[in-house]
Formats: sequence, structure tokens, C-alpha cells
Amino acid sequence: MNKGMENLSRKSILFVCLGNICRSPAAEGIMRSIISNMGAEPWLSVDSAGTGRYHIGELPDHRMRIHARRRGLELTHRCRQVTESDFYDFDLIIGMDASNISNLRRICPDPMLQTKIHAMAEWLDAGCRFDHIPDPYYEGAEGFELVLDLLSGGCERLYASLAGQIN
Ligand code: 4NP
Repeated sequence: MNKGMENLSRKSILFVCLGNICRSPAAEGIMRSIISNMGAEPWLSVDSAGTGRYHIGELPDHRMRIHARRRGLELTHRCRQVTESDFYDFDLIIGMDASNISNLRRICPDPMLQTKIHAMAEWLDAGCRFDHIPDPYYEGAEGFELVLDLLSGGCERLYASLAGQIN
């Protein structure tokens, strides 16, 4: 563990998109890599899920796996759907776009747990022109690269804020 991390309380993050085969498993893979590089396993854990059920049990989309692999990330998550128990099990539930957020609000089993729901855009650079992570499923290679670029910056900022390095 890096110096100064000894007193951090355990945190868990669930990244959520629609299909759980493009954006959220990419966010999970990027955050896993940051956690591993920083030695943060003792206090930070991560998973991903989808609000839809079309691809349950599948590996991430082959295009996302190819683009991620070029950046040194192997995406091995198996698609699963968000469950009510996720709202009790995770500290932060992070949706990629406004539709994901409204679906999460609908699924959330207890109004007290709504505060766990966040938008990934909260951690995008202030100067960034995106207010969500765009769905790449019907896009070309640029769409997948854009998602990986946005998520890389966003996950770095999210990690830094949880580690107390930024507000
Ligand atoms: P994701 O992308 O929400 O980033 O995983 C999608 C994957 C699959 C579908 C839509 C979006 N689909 O309609 O099957």
C-alpha cells in the first residue's frame, strides 16, 4: 500500500451502463489497473453491471476488448444485471449517462440509498465538453477510443478524490 493510505476506510464502487459490455466493464478494468498500480487493494474494490439483461454472462464487446488491449488492459468481466442488493453492497454506484442514472433511481430499493447514485461525469475534467460517457455500441473505432479516453481521466480523478489527494 502507498504511504498515507493506511487509514483509508474501505470503499467499493459499482460502475453501471446499459449493456455492461462496453462502458462499465471498461471503467472497471481501468480502475482495477489503477488500484493494482497504486497497491490500493486493501481499501478499494470495484465491479460493474448493466441495467439491461441482453448480454448476461457474456464477455465485454469484442471491439471494446481490442481497444482496451491496445492500452494494456485485459477486460475479463462477465456481464451481469444490477440487483437491489447492489445498493446495500456498494458505496458508490456510478452511471455512465442520464438514462443509466434514471434507471438506477427506479431500481433503487430504498430512498435512503439514492445518495449512492452518481454520474461518471462528476469526475470528468472541468474543461471537458462531455456531460456523460457516450454509448459507443453503434459507433466506430473513434467511439471506443473516446470512451477509453474519458474513462481514463475520470477514473484517475475518482481514485485521487477517494485517496484524499483532491477534493
Ligand atoms: P454499454 O453499451 O451500455 O456501454 O454496454 C451497449 C451495449 C449493448 C447495447 C446497448 C449499449 N445493446 O443494445 O445491446
